[in-house]
Amino acid sequence: MADVAQMAKEISRLKEEKNAVIMAHYYVDDDVQDVADYIGDSFFLSRKATEVDADIIVLCGVRFMGESAKVLNPDKKVLIPEIGADCPMAHMATVDHINEIRSQYPDVAVVCYVNSTAELKAASDVCVTSANALKIVSNLPNKDIYFIPDQNLAHYIADQLPEKHFIFNDGFCHVHHSIRLQQLLTAKKARPQAPVLVHPECDPEVVAEADYVGSTSGIIQYVSSSDADEFIIATELGVLHELKKQNPGKKFYSAGNTQICPNMKKLSMDKLLAALRDETPEIIMDEDLMEQAKAPMMRMLELAK
Ligand code: 13P
Ligand code: SF4
Repeated sequence: MADVAQMAKEISRLKEEKNAVIMAHYYVDDDVQDVADYIGDSFFLSRKATEVDADIIVLCGVRFMGESAKVLNPDKKVLIPEIGADCPMAHMATVDHINEIRSQYPDVAVVCYVNSTAELKAASDVCVTSANALKIVSNLPNKDIYFIPDQNLAHYIADQLPEKHFIFNDGFCHVHHSIRLQQLLTAKKARPQAPVLVHPECDPEVVAEADYVGSTSGIIQYVSSSDADEFIIATELGVLHELKKQNPGKKFYSAGNTQICPNMKKLSMDKLLAALRDETPEIIMDEDLMEQAKAPMMRMLELAK
């Protein structure tokens, strides 16, 4: 197999030849992040997907991210180097249950975290990401909020909006859920000066220990503007690549030892190269589904401005 530098060179040549753009989430492998044109959190990637002028988008992330890029760019070819990279949480709600909640609470707003399937988005009123959920939900006129699929992000937002009535769903991210309070307390004891930076997909008892709670981009921005020189990180450890790049003098410690998303880690340089070369696997979606899923995504982009 070719080495990383050779693969990076070939990826760059193919990108030019095919007028393609590579977008990657902070959780994918360091080498893949290094060849991406745009690296970001879910919100950044969604917004960027509406702005790129390319014939092909290669989305290095899990399937729901590829679907979001396709929904926002129905006329572009969207490739996802590993079609089996799927987020279990994206499936942890059902359209049937959304419909039940709608009949029980006629004025409910169904708020859908973008970490969800296109079918769930299509049945929702507005999408959110961890970077904009508080802003968007607080500006909705509805009192009743059914927040899918992540219960932890829902609780984090609900705690800050006591005027709203939240209906919770029991989905969760297994990667963030695996960050246990006891491990975090041990890490804090070893580094008492280090601010604790937590993603809101973590359990509430972990969030309660945070000095800062935010999306992956929020965590990166916090570190860059902080005077501290060491930090405890409670999210997927792919963010360390960007954190170290931007802050070579600072030190980072994990809050536990299981902060790796096995699906994000399915994205590799050889799969990215093969996807660009062969223009497959491609995200193919039903036209009506794309149309229906686009409305809550566009509403998010509008309300997040
Ligand atoms: P961001 O919302 O920070 O992008 O990350 C959450 C996540 O789990 C993406 O899979
Ligand atoms: Fe899904 Fe969690 Fe992996 Fe993100 S980190 S893709 S939410 S399993």
